[in-house]
Amino acid sequence: MKHLIDPMDISIDELESLFKLAEEIIKNEDDFNNICSHKILATLFYEPSTRTRFSFEAAMLRLGGQVIGFSEPGSSSVMKGESIPDTIRTVGSYVDIIAMRHPKEGAPRYASYYSQVPIINAGDGGHQHPTQTLTDLLTIKRTKGQISNLTMGLCGDLKFGRTVHSLIKAMSRYENIKFILISPQELQIPEYIKMEILNKKNIPFIEVERLEDVIDKLDILYMTRVQKERFFNEADYIRLKDSYILDKEKLKLARKDLSILHPLPRVNEISYEVDEDPRACYFDQVEYGMFIRMALITKLLGVM
Ligand code: NCD
Repeated sequence: MKHLIDPMDISIDELESLFKLAEEIIKNEDDFNNICSHKILATLFYEPSTRTRFSFEAAMLRLGGQVIGFSEPGSSSVMKGESIPDTIRTVGSYVDIIAMRHPKEGAPRYASYYSQVPIINAGDGGHQHPTQTLTDLLTIKRTKGQISNLTMGLCGDLKFGRTVHSLIKAMSRYENIKFILISPQELQIPEYIKMEILNKKNIPFIEVERLEDVIDKLDILYMTRVQKERFFNEADYIRLKDSYILDKEKLKLARKDLSILHPLPRVNEISYEVDEDPRACYFDQVEYGMFIRMALITKLLGVM
């Protein structure tokens, strides 16, 4: 693995070794606080972010490295019309590794063709978000003890939600996974995910509209926000934005050992009262995201 653009760029063996390293970092963080000294990460964020950018930056700083970058393309030469290849060639001559988020699908892959340093896709449009998937998989492994033999409900905006697309791709390689895809008709999972992954690999899945009808069957419930920024018109967003609100009442129907995940940010789809429920894992998930990124940076830089 030189770059991480798509969740399939990481083999199952590489995933296992990343999880192992993340666990070591969680246990003995002090042993790792200098291993990236003299290394620099650039975060090139052409789209808003809180968790992903900060967790990359915190990860690099905790490894003893340094960070440069932008969170607003408006403050860089992008505004003067600089192309992705030129920006990447330039930044790549200053730094050792780049994390890039871009509203255009495929932009990080395009960047990787011109980069002399590893590129990590930190989210490209409504397409993929492989490091969120690493975060999600580590959370599942830690809460369930395994990533196989699970019935997973994915709920909300399955059309534009890149974290959902990446997670389905990555989970499709584990044994005995069943998906229950819960969304309004207009926000159903893209056809290419059904054709190229679910159908091709004979992975059982059903598509439903009501969360209440299926919540009792789930080991994991992965909630997502309706992706406002990917809608063509605001009226559709307003009509669909509150399609699902997970609250205490609905959770009464769920199993005691359910794990609730959410990539965050949340808008309305999980009410705050759920945060106190022991089944809510989304703030642990945030924390694991930083540790798995520490492991990923370490591996991609080849410092361990
Ligand atoms: C997600 C993203 O950017 O796709 N956020 C994140 O990185 N944790 C999910 C979202 O924005 O809804």
